[in-house]
Amino acid sequence: MSKKLTLGIFGFGVVGQGLYDIIRTNYLQIDVKKFVIRDGSKVRPLPAELFTTDRRQVLDDPEITTVVELIDDADAAFEIVSEALKKGKDVVSANKKMIAHHLEELVAIQKETGSSLLYEGAVCGSIPIIRNLEEYYDNELLYAVSGIFNGSSNYILSQICIEGWTYEKALKKAQDLGFAESDPSMDVGGFDPKFKLVILAAHSYGLFLAPEEVLNIGIHHLGEEELQFATERGWKIKLVPEIRQIGPNEVTLYVLPRFVEPGHLLYNVEHENNAVLVKAAFANEQFFYGKGAGGHPTGSAVLSDITALRYGYKYEYKKHLHQAIPGVNLDVEIPVYLRYSDPELVKKVGFSAIEEYGTSPNSYVVGRISLRQILAAGQAIEQDRAFLAQLPDSASKLPDSASKLSDFGIVK
Ligand SMILES: NC(=O)c1ccc[n+]([C@@H]2O[C@H](COP(=O)([O-])OP(=O)(O)OC[C@H]3O[C@@H](n4cnc5c(N)ncnc54)[C@H](OP(=O)(O)O)[C@@H]3O)[C@@H](O)[C@H]2O)c1
Repeated sequence: MSKKLTLGIFGFGVVGQGLYDIIRTNYLQIDVKKFVIRDGSKVRPLPAELFTTDRRQVLDDPEITTVVELIDDADAAFEIVSEALKKGKDVVSANKKMIAHHLEELVAIQKETGSSLLYEGAVCGSIPIIRNLEEYYDNELLYAVSGIFNGSSNYILSQICIEGWTYEKALKKAQDLGFAESDPSMDVGGFDPKFKLVILAAHSYGLFLAPEEVLNIGIHHLGEEELQFATERGWKIKLVPEIRQIGPNEVTLYVLPRFVEPGHLLYNVEHENNAVLVKAAFANEQFFYGKGAGGHPTGSAVLSDITALRYGYKYEYKKHLHQAIPGVNLDVEIPVYLRYSDPELVKKVGFSAIEEYGTSPNSYVVGRISLRQILAAGQAIEQDRAFLAQLPDSASKLPDSASKLSDFGIVK
């Protein structure tokens, strides 16, 4: 049966305002009782009595059944969300950083209180991937989930690769357009897509991981050399998070820049668009494409969660509760390109095999390396302002599902 919802919304920024626009034009009878904001002196386009800087006016109001958390402060967001859940309120959030850091704890609170926390808007804006992983891919054997999860870095890469802009000009424009997070290093450093990957790891494989355990290398040291390296081969450079199964009960996951060949589904995902590519044993490849950021696209995902709450929807975390949870293997070797200044870096990184050395105008190597080695060398890579990217790996092309299943010992 449909419940009547009375909302208290934290945040009236890009997403908060986008959500409110949608609620106003929607036929649904959703009552917004209060917005909690940080700065009481800002002029707002709605009556002043709708706003407060006092969070207690929402958290302590028994009439407010549902809290929508859309603020840009992950620590305050965790306090608000956990208190609201403990008070028996349902919550919708789009805060990937907060959720990625506290997911296990938030799941435990929901179990204790029976409240529901939904966060579709936290991963790839308007793309409905979490509920699909929870429901549609409930019993599917997933081989991999990957994609383009960060609109801001993808916009920057498109402007550089297609329009020939400098990195600085493209970043400034992404910020002006409101695609970049308040702290852009979260986007270009690969942290934001990592938070989303950590959330999807829970819904695809039942894994609760700390973001610190997951490798992320960003695009902030992208230079002319790798652009030339890509152009000569007809490739593009994308920032790609991926989790994939590598054995019967083992996965690997990471966020790395990647050279992408024409024909790959991610090749034509440009500008601020996002995409999620799901590879599964029986459904085969499925591709979700859409706006990964912006007030209205993200607001639409938040509204979808709010309306799901009217029917008592909860994530069940079935893969965590009812399936064997896979281990994470960091010893997987991948083919990479590394452009560096200090030759000592190549030794420090410790390639297991080097196939090619290049010297024009800066030095680069192409070789194989394990994720564990990249993680260990992360600081040295950063200090060198080196650029590391995964190369296309034809070996990763999936065999047909029957042989793959037998590889995994699932069917003989
Ligand atoms: N922007 C996107 O496209 C997008 C997409 C997906 C997910 N998200 C996520 O959605 C959330 C909101 O993003 P946004 O882009 O809408 O941020 P934003 O435009 O910077 O707005 C942030 C809002 O939060 C309020 N705020 C900050 N700290 C607060 C606190 N402690 N208590 C109450 N209100 C507080 C601010 O108040 P004032 O108005 O008074 O400053 C502002 O209204 C973030 O978690 C972000 O990662 C954003």
